[in-house]
Amino acid sequence: MSIITFDKVKKTYDDIKVLEDFDLNIDEGEFVILLGPSGCGKTTILKLINGLLKANEGQIIIKNKLISDWNPIELRRSMGYVIQQVGLFPHLNIESNICYTLNLVKVKKDIQHNRAKELIELVGLDESYLNRYPRELSGGQQQRIGVARALAASPDIILMDEPFGAVDEVTRRSLQEEITKIYKKLGKTIIFVTHDIEEAIKLGSRIVLLNEGEIDRDKNKKDFVLSKEKTDYAENFFGSKDFISYLSSVKIAKCLEQKTELNETIEYPLINEELSVLKGIQTCIETQSNLLSVVDDSGKIKGYFIIDSIYKHLLAL
Ligand SMILES: Nc1ncnc2c1ncn2[C@@H]1O[C@H](COP(=O)(O)OP(=O)(O)O)[C@@H](O)[C@H]1O
Ligand SMILES: [Mg+2]
Repeated sequence: MSIITFDKVKKTYDDIKVLEDFDLNIDEGEFVILLGPSGCGKTTILKLINGLLKANEGQIIIKNKLISDWNPIELRRSMGYVIQQVGLFPHLNIESNICYTLNLVKVKKDIQHNRAKELIELVGLDESYLNRYPRELSGGQQQRIGVARALAASPDIILMDEPFGAVDEVTRRSLQEEITKIYKKLGKTIIFVTHDIEEAIKLGSRIVLLNEGEIDRDKNKKDFVLSKEKTDYAENFFGSKDFISYLSSVKIAKCLEQKTELNETIEYPLINEELSVLKGIQTCIETQSNLLSVVDDSGKIKGYFIIDSIYKHLLAL
């Protein structure tokens, strides 16, 4: 069921036209990535969704109701918003930051406290952080609190605007894993903005590529990467980064072959089923073998990874 609809939306800033005749439909429970270079209109789209900006023309429908019919405060409260410059209140401790919106609507203190405990754990930090102040946390930890705060009022929709852009690579990866877990656990609708193709492939199930306010491609992850028709714009934007990122996001376990005619006496190089297809290809090259034995954590052989047949599995996913 559709949760957000843009119907022929136009948005301009004075004489700068950002969107025109813009259509987009997002279903409940989707994890959609809005991908594109700086200035293509990503932030504008998010701000139109939560009512911070108004469209010049066209309609935006949120949960079956025209955005103009929503009470703006109620609308914003039904959405979590995470941005790069986290924006925690420096004079409030972490618990009060997380519970900021709950406090506004006068939720009881003990309920707020329990919610803060639950959320801080969900974003991978322990309870002891609740009494600290933002300045006592690293950038990555503050970003986790930003995510917790966005989830506090149990919104159905979460908007994330390049939320992990300012943190180091390792922290970023761990935040990406955390948000994937949260998505799987809570099943919210997430609209995640990034200019980073690797992040897009890692996180989203659907990727919308924007080119100056227009949709260049809008596909599920596999078709996005493996479809042959690509615009010059997409080619220039990705090079082969989308493909490499895709190969590193698919696990060996998805490309298993069961072969009975194999020579059981030969010992093939081993690879763990949890590793990526990219790692599998690398191992084939390094060991000069076009076949690997795939094992689980206990070392039990689960099947074989065969270079010639990778494409079959990838296309069937
Ligand atoms: N408040 C504003 N006033 C004038 N122009 C703006 C304003 N905000 C954004 N723009 C312009 O609109 C275009 C899209 O901006 P934005 O949605 O922020 O892109 P993105 O988030 O993809 O980088 C850019 O050309 C930007 O310069
Ligand atoms: Mg932006």
